[in-house]
Amino acid sequence: MTDTTGTSPAALSELARSSVALMLRLQDDSGAFVASPTFSAYAGYCWFRDGAFIADAVSAAGEAESATRFFDWCARVVIDRADQIERIVAAAAAGTPLPDADMLPTRFTMDGGEGDDEWWDFQLDGYGTWMWAAAAHAQRHGLDIRRWARALDLTARYLVSSWRRPCFDWWEEHDERVHVSTLGCIVAGLEAGTDAGVLSERDATLAAVDGIRALMESDGRASGHLTKWIGTAEVDGSLAAIVAPLAVFPAGSPIGSATVDEVLASLEVGGGVYRFRADTYFGGGRWPLLSCFLGLALNARGDRAGALRLLEWSAGTADAAGDLPEQVTDLALDPGREEEWTRRWGPVARPLLWSHAMYVRLAVELGISAGVSA
Ligand code: BGC
Repeated sequence: MTDTTGTSPAALSELARSSVALMLRLQDDSGAFVASPTFSAYAGYCWFRDGAFIADAVSAAGEAESATRFFDWCARVVIDRADQIERIVAAAAAGTPLPDADMLPTRFTMDGGEGDDEWWDFQLDGYGTWMWAAAAHAQRHGLDIRRWARALDLTARYLVSSWRRPCFDWWEEHDERVHVSTLGCIVAGLEAGTDAGVLSERDATLAAVDGIRALMESDGRASGHLTKWIGTAEVDGSLAAIVAPLAVFPAGSPIGSATVDEVLASLEVGGGVYRFRADTYFGGGRWPLLSCFLGLALNARGDRAGALRLLEWSAGTADAAGDLPEQVTDLALDPGREEEWTRRWGPVARPLLWSHAMYVRLAVELGISAGVSA
């Protein structure tokens, strides 16, 4: 780890620029973004969660065509599964929901297939996040969102039918829980879809949004802040995203602000942000992408200096080649657990495109140039 406090604006900008170039270079011809080209468990796969935030970042950095190609890919993946979605929606409506194994997958091969490896597959958040990111992209660049109308509508009906179900969270854990970040991603997507006017079942969608928001506020909250899952007082670093950029509970709202305070107080150390206190994955280190989400939330409530501090810490996790890792383990919460993961999957993923994406997203928000031609 390098001490990057006070890192020059030119160095921060250069890392943003090389990060955009890296994401563009690693985008597959199909439009998909590989999560990490080198990490054994991620290579060859694209997640809706990672991909939506990557596309949002390249879109914010001015690379509109790359983002559009990603959302075209998402739309194809969803439309290819239209029959499956109709079965899921019909079964839910009949009161006989399909088992988790029959729900949509979390990650796909570059050609939109499902691959042969087992995964923790039932996760709902990425389906909300792609809707939100596609709408934000269309708005940012003045594009016609109707290009993705059918896929957005199918996705919305899938989410409206199934949002109450427990599923794996952002970290692919605890499928027995209803996760508050997951609910936030679903709200962001459904609201973006209704605002864009592309959903066929507007009233049902708005009713679902009301129901999800009510649940988050009643049972997904403790001491004023959002919680990791329904029925705990703990927080999770992913909750910063629900404040910014998703703005489901904006930074200026009491819930948004209390959530930022709690993530800072319990998960941020020296600019790095842990996923959650009980994390043991690679020993449970600090994740630059979470520092950048928290930075976006701080900046949204007017704390530019605080946001810059987190951006600088994230920049310091880059190696000599400018590649950002998934996490750094120097201050791991449970260091004894690192080796079992290294033995299983090799060293921590690097480069992780999602880390580069969040670095770029925060840099752009802070007015630091990320233009590839800059
Ligand atoms: C993380 C996920 C992520 C995936 C690919 C997993 O370790 O828990 O959030 O989507 O890696 O980057």
